[in-house]
Amino acid sequence: MVILKSNTDLLGLREAARIASEALRIAKEMVREGVSAADIDEALRDFIFSQGAEPSFLNYEVEGKVYRYSTCVSINNEVVHGLPLRSKVFKAPMLVKVDVGVYKDGYHADTAWTFSLGKVPPRIRTLMRATKEALYAAIEESRPGNRISDVTYAIYRVARRYGFYPAETVTGHGVGLELHEDPVIPNNPKDLDKDGRIRPRMTLAIEPMINVGTERIITLSDGWTIVTADGSWSAHYEHTVYISEDGPEILTEDIDG
Ligand code: MF3
Ligand code: CO
Ligand code: CO
Repeated sequence: MVILKSNTDLLGLREAARIASEALRIAKEMVREGVSAADIDEALRDFIFSQGAEPSFLNYEVEGKVYRYSTCVSINNEVVHGLPLRSKVFKAPMLVKVDVGVYKDGYHADTAWTFSLGKVPPRIRTLMRATKEALYAAIEESRPGNRISDVTYAIYRVARRYGFYPAETVTGHGVGLELHEDPVIPNNPKDLDKDGRIRPRMTLAIEPMINVGTERIITLSDGWTIVTADGSWSAHYEHTVYISEDGPEILTEDIDG
């Protein structure tokens, strides 16, 4: 069921989004050699609680499994849902993708960003640029009257123009009163099922995950970490977006700016 947001809801969403973006800025500063994914998880968890909020992911249940961390930290070939483990130590050259959800006063915001550590290859720089471009192209299509498939195809077109592949299966989603609300927003057109209209007062988490070499993904035996099937690297950017009568309004912040 799609949940449309009131003006009061929007105030709460803005506050959750502000905290989530602030958390990603902390993460950005921490992506250094020798720092571990667990360090990021702890720092962001502490920051979120300090704001009178809770990490949306902590104890979140997906398909009967409970997630025990406050963030997802995915590196290199990991597409999404990478565990923020102590053993995941940053070492250049590396891509570090941090995904965080914040729950404050009844509202969730969800945002993710890709950070590079050291001198990553030119093709990986291009991957970052393409995935970010796909995010903003998808947001541009997120306006009343358009369809969910317009958003999906925007992601697909940008990825393919660079010779990259939007990951299969993984999707964006409605967000707000729940972390994951309807509608589902596939990143890959082959996952489009029933299409729907984009309506004013929706809030959407739009999150392209784009791979260098294949759309195919595999879930590791930890039950969470999703990796590319060919080992190629992947990038991920996510904004929480409010759909007004006039078009999309991005509630989370661009962390490169
Ligand atoms: N990566 C997901 C999203 O952005 C949320 C993670 S759910 C968790 O929608 F359980 F893994 F935390
Ligand atoms: Co997210
Ligand atoms: Co999300």
